[in-house]
Amino acid sequence: MDTKKSLLILLSTVVVLLLSTAVQSCLPSDRAALLEFRAKLKEPYIGVFNTWKGQDCCNGWYGVSCDPTTHRVAGITLRGESEDPIFQHAKRSGLMTGSISPAICKLIRLSTIIIADWKGISGEIPSCIENLPFLRHIDLVGNQISGVIPANIGKLLRLAVLNLADNQITGEIPWSITRLTSLAHLDLKNNNISGVIPPDIGRLKMLSRVLLTGNKFSGQIPESLTRIYRLVDLDLSLNRITGPIPASFGKMSVLASLNLDGNLISGTIPGTLMTSSISNLNLSGNLISGQIPNTFGPRSYFTVLDLSNNRLQGPIPASITTASFIGHLDVSHNHLCGKIPTGSPFDHLDATSFTYNTCLCGKPLGNCKK
Ligand SMILES: *[C@@H]1O[C@H](CO)[C@@H](O)[C@H](O)[C@H]1NC(C)=O
Ligand SMILES: *[C@@H]1O[C@H](CO)[C@@H](O)[C@H](O)[C@H]1NC(C)=O
Repeated sequence: MDTKKSLLILLSTVVVLLLSTAVQSCLPSDRAALLEFRAKLKEPYIGVFNTWKGQDCCNGWYGVSCDPTTHRVAGITLRGESEDPIFQHAKRSGLMTGSISPAICKLIRLSTIIIADWKGISGEIPSCIENLPFLRHIDLVGNQISGVIPANIGKLLRLAVLNLADNQITGEIPWSITRLTSLAHLDLKNNNISGVIPPDIGRLKMLSRVLLTGNKFSGQIPESLTRIYRLVDLDLSLNRITGPIPASFGKMSVLASLNLDGNLISGTIPGTLMTSSISNLNLSGNLISGQIPNTFGPRSYFTVLDLSNNRLQGPIPASITTASFIGHLDVSHNHLCGKIPTGSPFDHLDATSFTYNTCLCGKPLGNCKK
């Protein structure tokens, strides 16, 4: 190869390299949107935004990620709780404050927004996020965000994770949420959301976790929830839910955790719940009456079975001793009466599991009167 030719090859390689880096740097409009977003936030302790400088927002900007093919901004990931030592100061002193600028809606290829655990971010969720068709993951947990869930959130057909837990969100769940057929995780716990759980929430067949604890939900438990066959974890505790427990919860194949405690649920306990896939069942603090179903069997396996603070009557059923495991049992604060069955699982339980009933007796309480 002569020198002229190899020089030419070298030159063209350099040109290609230069071109490709030029292409790979972020779009000026994306960069401008990020700077607008940043301008609404204050984070004085760690300096996460100190890295947001230079032209190429796809390169070295903390928490910003870009799509490798389109070179558009695809993700913003800013977590206030990190194991990174530079975050230790922020843990003590807070905080990022400010609000989420609607400027993020100009990042039209955005698929991930994680602005989590900063404790101090307030303001509302910009409703224009409805227009970000690539959004898959919204996580704003642990801030002070107020206002409502955007009414047309149902337009985000790719959305798989919606986590708005531990904020101050009010209003109702928008009906459009039942269009989010990719949704796998819905976490709205510890907000101030009221109204009913949408009756046709059962259309969301991908849901595996639904965590709505600590709100002001009212109305009944939608029967349709029991038709979400992927559902593993359902937490509706600490709301104002009324009506009965749908018996079909006991027929769900992978439901492992059912927390309905701290509501106004009435009716009786469906017998199917005692031999279901559920291993963590908390029905404490409701208005449940009738007897504890005598339907336990070898398939009954409970790490937690909390039936305390209800209006249950009658005895502790004999079949409970056939359960394969009951780790924590609490039937206190009911109207139960009769002899506590002996044998496993009662060997390891103490009196507090049984106190404040009408006339339960036998180990670990006092002897039964003859
Ligand atoms: C929740 O909403 C009620 C009004 O419905 C309001 O009085 C209360 O301050 C709110 N709480 C929070 C934590 O936002
Ligand atoms: C069940 O729920 C009640 C009321 O919310 C709560 O106090 C209790 O700790 C829960 N039980 C268990 C074992 O977690």
